[in-house]
Amino acid sequence: MQWSRRELLKAGIVGGASIFLPPTLGLADSLIQRKIPSTGESLPVIGIGTARRYEAVTTETERAPLREVMRQFKETGGRVIDTAPSYGTAETVVGDLVAEIKIRESLFIATKLGARGRDVGIAQLEQSFKRLRTPMIDLIAVHNLQDTQTQLGTLRQWKQAGRIRYIGITTSFERQHTEFEQTMRAEALDFIQVDYALDNRKAGQRILPLAADRGMGVMINLPFGRGRLFTAVQGKSLPPWASEFDCASWAQFFLKFIVSHPAVTCALPGTAKVEYLVDNLGAARGRLPDAAMRRRMESFIDGL
Ligand SMILES: NC(=O)c1ccc[n+]([C@@H]2O[C@H](COP(=O)([O-])OP(=O)(O)OC[C@H]3O[C@@H](n4cnc5c(N)ncnc54)[C@H](OP(=O)(O)O)[C@@H]3O)[C@@H](O)[C@H]2O)c1
Repeated sequence: MQWSRRELLKAGIVGGASIFLPPTLGLADSLIQRKIPSTGESLPVIGIGTARRYEAVTTETERAPLREVMRQFKETGGRVIDTAPSYGTAETVVGDLVAEIKIRESLFIATKLGARGRDVGIAQLEQSFKRLRTPMIDLIAVHNLQDTQTQLGTLRQWKQAGRIRYIGITTSFERQHTEFEQTMRAEALDFIQVDYALDNRKAGQRILPLAADRGMGVMINLPFGRGRLFTAVQGKSLPPWASEFDCASWAQFFLKFIVSHPAVTCALPGTAKVEYLVDNLGAARGRLPDAAMRRRMESFIDGL
């Protein structure tokens, strides 16, 4: 199915002469950006993950802080929001809030496809479009390598039809890394999404360099190891040398390590509080650690 310019305009997806031109960015210029290899479109290096904290949201009291996170994310120039059909209420909450505060055009919405069989996959895609309340989703990735060949086939057709801009695959399990790598070698993909953190650097050995070789954008999930890194440094002060790369908090320490990897396009910290949003977006500003400093950060965390 092809989307008409009128439908896309109505949904606020396009405003200019070309349907898939990236939206005009205002304040986003102040956040560090990376180019998506397959198109050259730029994205800020820090996005938002919606697993867990967006999954069981049923009341206005629960929604209110998330609305404020989205509003300030957009105002600060943030763009990438990652969600999934399997994250309970997350897609619905994102879709409702984005529509309500009218920020669809400035965002890059990424969701996933986790289904077995072509028809089940298509039904899930239709559900994601309905929940996210948009005729176009920026990125859909096969979730955790479920029925990869079949689902990638559908995603390619939908990309061709203009409903999806980018396609990819995700994992957050080390046991899937070998199959993940094989899929990266065999398929043409715009993006991969993988687990990588200062204390979980396995993807840095082969997967991230392979993504660079294959011209694939990289999104990083579990950048704090679901909070594990904060527990590791509990009660400890930042080392004084963290100021050499403009790092003011532990969250920025962990995120700057990730986004200073040359293959990484953006990191997706789970963010449901404005206080965390402001902190995490700080990792997309100022200097980033160089290769020597990254080794120092690794030794520091390994020595805890
Ligand atoms: N296979 C896949 O495709 C896959 C798998 C897993 C995750 N993901 C994606 O990756 C995203 C990130 O994973 P995640 O959310 O599970 O884990 P995470 O980002 O590694 O960690 C999130 C935790 O960090 C805390 N946090 C966030 N910002 C903070 C800050 N500035 N200071 C202190 N604590 C902070 C949060 O605290 P609170 O608990 O207090 O909010 C939350 O517990 C997910 O949301 C999802 O979008 C994808």
